[in-house]
Amino acid sequence: MGLLHTLDQLFWRLVTHPIVVLYVFVQDILSLVFAPTPPPPDNSTKLRRPRVAIVGAGLTGVSAAAHCVGHGFDVQIFEARSKAKGLGGIWSVTMRCPKSAPRVNTTSALQIHSVMFRFHPSVRWQSAYPKQETIKNEIVSLWERYGLEERTVFSTPIKSVRKNEDGKWVINDTESKYGNFDGIIAAVGSCGDPKMPSLPNQESFRGQIYHSSNLDGKDAKGKRVMVVGGGASAVEALEWAVEAGAARIDVLSRSDKWVIPRNVIVDVLLASNVLGQETRLSWIPEVLLRKFFYRDLEDISPSGKGVFMDTPTVNSQLFQLIRDGKARWLRGDILTVAKNGIRFNHRAKGVPKSGPGHEIFVEGDIIIMATGFSRPSLSFLPSEAFEPPYGPPNWYLQVFPPAFPSVCANNSTYVNAIATAGNYHIGIYTRLLLMFLVDPLSRPGEFWMKRWIDMTRLLKRFAPTGAFDFFTYSELMYWFVFVVLINPFRWKWALFVFMGIGQALPMTVVQKEDELRQKAQEIS
Ligand SMILES: Cc1cc2nc3c(=O)[nH]c(=O)nc-3n(C[C@H](O)[C@H](O)[C@H](O)COP(=O)(O)OP(=O)(O)OC[C@H]3O[C@@H](n4cnc5c(N)ncnc54)[C@H](O)[C@@H]3O)c2cc1C
Ligand SMILES: NC(=O)c1ccc[n+]([C@@H]2O[C@H](COP(=O)([O-])OP(=O)(O)OC[C@H]3O[C@@H](n4cnc5c(N)ncnc54)[C@H](OP(=O)(O)O)[C@@H]3O)[C@@H](O)[C@H]2O)c1
Repeated sequence: MGLLHTLDQLFWRLVTHPIVVLYVFVQDILSLVFAPTPPPPDNSTKLRRPRVAIVGAGLTGVSAAAHCVGHGFDVQIFEARSKAKGLGGIWSVTMRCPKSAPRVNTTSALQIHSVMFRFHPSVRWQSAYPKQETIKNEIVSLWERYGLEERTVFSTPIKSVRKNEDGKWVINDTESKYGNFDGIIAAVGSCGDPKMPSLPNQESFRGQIYHSSNLDGKDAKGKRVMVVGGGASAVEALEWAVEAGAARIDVLSRSDKWVIPRNVIVDVLLASNVLGQETRLSWIPEVLLRKFFYRDLEDISPSGKGVFMDTPTVNSQLFQLIRDGKARWLRGDILTVAKNGIRFNHRAKGVPKSGPGHEIFVEGDIIIMATGFSRPSLSFLPSEAFEPPYGPPNWYLQVFPPAFPSVCANNSTYVNAIATAGNYHIGIYTRLLLMFLVDPLSRPGEFWMKRWIDMTRLLKRFAPTGAFDFFTYSELMYWFVFVVLINPFRWKWALFVFMGIGQALPMTVVQKEDELRQKAQEIS
């Protein structure tokens, strides 16, 4: 009876939502093939060394930890915030903890298609652009599935990591409490606390001022909303204000960012520029975007800034909302705040910040500060990791400081990209670290790590940004393939590094090599 009922449900779901059923089916297959088996819940399998300390319980930290334990390696996650505010990182905060400073709203959703946000092979999306709660639930269930509860400590900010006499890592000088570690994954993310710069004379404003990440439960019905900023959060705030029934919406943006469509094919094509920088052909996507996407709103497209220079905002609704008269997008500088609005220097296209413009007064009842987030600090790492000219993001593969191949700052060093934070690379980086820890012959030396960085700088010497200040997802994949191919000792690990499978063979080879090394030492 139960089986019949399930089959009946599946049949009707297939009839009513065939694409969703197919999407889920493909993800189930991916999970079956690529997700490492979680340790048994009774804890009967002893996890082995190398042991990895993971800083941060956002999706990067949880995914990296799940990869480690799934391959049989021990981990300990350290999260600065409490469980309610920290598990899930920026996606964690919900209406259930109203007193915490949120970093996203419950209405926040992925910008980029969830097919590019599969932060672990066992993640299972049912929609193209899931919202905050769904994303958080996926992170939490991953954490539970891989038995990470007993391996996570909350409310424990990491302030220092140092090596003991045996060359093992000690966290916050608490070796007696947490033991020592062979490797570290810093998964602190790139969006920390909300940035709330003060605007000139803002104390005279009679209305409310909110940060863009703190809009849950706020009322904008019939009000005039002014959004400060021109990035993804500004677009999200604009959409929120439309949804909330605002009477008028003005976005006050001091610099231009590219907006690209929320279209998986366009986004994948843009991310396929393997050079990861502006090229002689970059005018092609730029012209196409202006002619076929911006169209009559070409004036607000950036001038003097290529599409491969800065993280674009991914949105397909914005321009229609502007065309429908629901919002205005104004480029310029805030001069001063008054009790009922903002005096604004409205600049023409191409005029730089603080350049000449036309002074206008924008009336409003609410100011939404879409002014971004402060960057979480990596300064708990030893100072040698930051020595110029090899400070982050100028690290080996952008995440391994040349002085310490046992440290991987997964997803924590990027500046700008056409990519996604929550995708396959989290697993690839984690497995690269595991390979370096397990197999001394695969481990890069400081000299060669620096040469790789120099080489990437040389290849990207004509890029208008720093070599590591902008990259695309396909460039990241090229980096991975290059560093595995360049070293024959890494070839045996290729399947493991790229797909998380075939660990037994390289492990056996490494064990034999260890035995040989030991014998050679005994003889000498
Ligand atoms: C509103 C918003 C929407 C976004 N949408 C997208 C999107 O659509 N697509 C996309 O790819 N990216 C998006 N991002 C970027 C976002 O950063 C990633 O989606 C993702 O959450 C990154 O996960 P993470 O685990 O690396 O970092 P986080 O989620 O920031 O988690 C890092 C964790 O580390 C903890 N931590 C920091 N420092 C320490 C320390 N010293 N000690 C201990 N713990 C520490 C923090 O408390 C936090 O819990 C968005 C960001 C924002 C703000
Ligand atoms: N749904 C989503 O997927 C989503 C939603 C929101 C955010 N995000 C992600 O979160 C990250 C942060 O995005 P964000 O939009 O919050 O921040 P952001 O990209 O850093 O943009 C901040 C904006 O505020 C402006 N600004 C900062 N200080 C200002 C000041 N004092 N006066 C006037 N303008 C000021 C900046 O101008 P300048 O550029 O001139 O400094 C910029 O336009 C990005 O990685 C983004 O992709 C994703």
